[in-house]
Amino acid sequence: MASSDIRKIFDTSSNNTINLGIGEPDFTTPKHIIEAAKRALDEGKTHYTPNNGIYELREEISKKLKMDYNLDIHPENIIITCGASEGLMLSLMSVVDRGDEVIITDPAFLSYRNLIQLCEGRPVPVKLEEDFSLDIEKVKESITDRTKCIVINTPGNPTGKVMSKEEIKGISDIAEDYNLIVISDEVYDKIIYHKKHHSPMEYTDNCIVVNGFSKTYAMTGWRIGYLYVSENLNSRLNIVDHMIKIHQYSFACATSFAQYGALAALRGDQSCIYEMVREFRRRRDLVVKGLKDVFKLHPPEGAFYIFPNTEEYGTGEEVVKRLMENGILVVPGVAFGKGGLYHIRLSYATKYELLEKAVEIIKETFLGGM
Ligand SMILES: Cc1ncc(COP(=O)(O)O)c(C=O)c1O
Repeated sequence: MASSDIRKIFDTSSNNTINLGIGEPDFTTPKHIIEAAKRALDEGKTHYTPNNGIYELREEISKKLKMDYNLDIHPENIIITCGASEGLMLSLMSVVDRGDEVIITDPAFLSYRNLIQLCEGRPVPVKLEEDFSLDIEKVKESITDRTKCIVINTPGNPTGKVMSKEEIKGISDIAEDYNLIVISDEVYDKIIYHKKHHSPMEYTDNCIVVNGFSKTYAMTGWRIGYLYVSENLNSRLNIVDHMIKIHQYSFACATSFAQYGALAALRGDQSCIYEMVREFRRRRDLVVKGLKDVFKLHPPEGAFYIFPNTEEYGTGEEVVKRLMENGILVVPGVAFGKGGLYHIRLSYATKYELLEKAVEIIKETFLGGM
């Protein structure tokens, strides 16, 4: 496994650079969530919890899934994890055997490729189209008798693309027709500007969904995520039991008081999400408006990344170097797969005023004295 290119870039940043590399909300966790975790500590909720997490939290997630997406997921089929990162790890470890092939998109979030390798599986990238949509025929063509599962991510990191209902249905049909498992990473499901979020869980039983609290509630440091497995898939393959074994021997359980914070996040006023999304949208509009004369780009539909095409100025890596010299930190698209060679990823989860400054510097760097 390679170490993360994104981490390497962070290590070179100084106090004077504007960091558009980092993938986390700059907001502080809403107060009522912090208070709930403090209360849990004061009340002595400092012990191990059940391996799969406190029942109230799993029950609340189950209710939310019914309310938001009309999904029937029993709390027994939900596991509270140490961030979505652990959810992805448990999903892949419980499904992928040595030599199995796993279809991912190119570009895709870095963890997929590396976790598949950790499971001794083989990532099989399917290149996204120019507008970052996924050609279902290309997915079909990449299936072999070693293919075990497909990992998708909507809204997407690094592209900001929200998969259409047709794409999600197409992937779900493939899962049914070829008996593959879809692992759907939906950590940005609430950070969406237009279009509706769709999940393969709506269309196929061959599905595991990974989600978390990091992005939706600005809780990256809390390390609380969750996953859920369709009842049918679990009864056929006992996946939850397998996951619990891995989880038990590696993490035991997610942090107790952080789980109570997450519970307050779900039970409390949801307007904190809308406020954050409104601000992300304002920043997205600023970045799109500022950069569309510099790069070819597709306005992001969700998440908080933009993935402009750098072809006019060289590879993404060359553009990253030029920006770095001018105090702007972004990530070369190739870090997310070969399909990102002529792209850079900018995160706009940074203060508006800093983004304004960054956009001006980027314009100056590439358009010069215009
Ligand atoms: C697509 C995607 N999945 C999963 C994660 C991991 O999230 P967590 O903080 O919940 O582990 C990230 C974080 O950047 C992400 O972008």
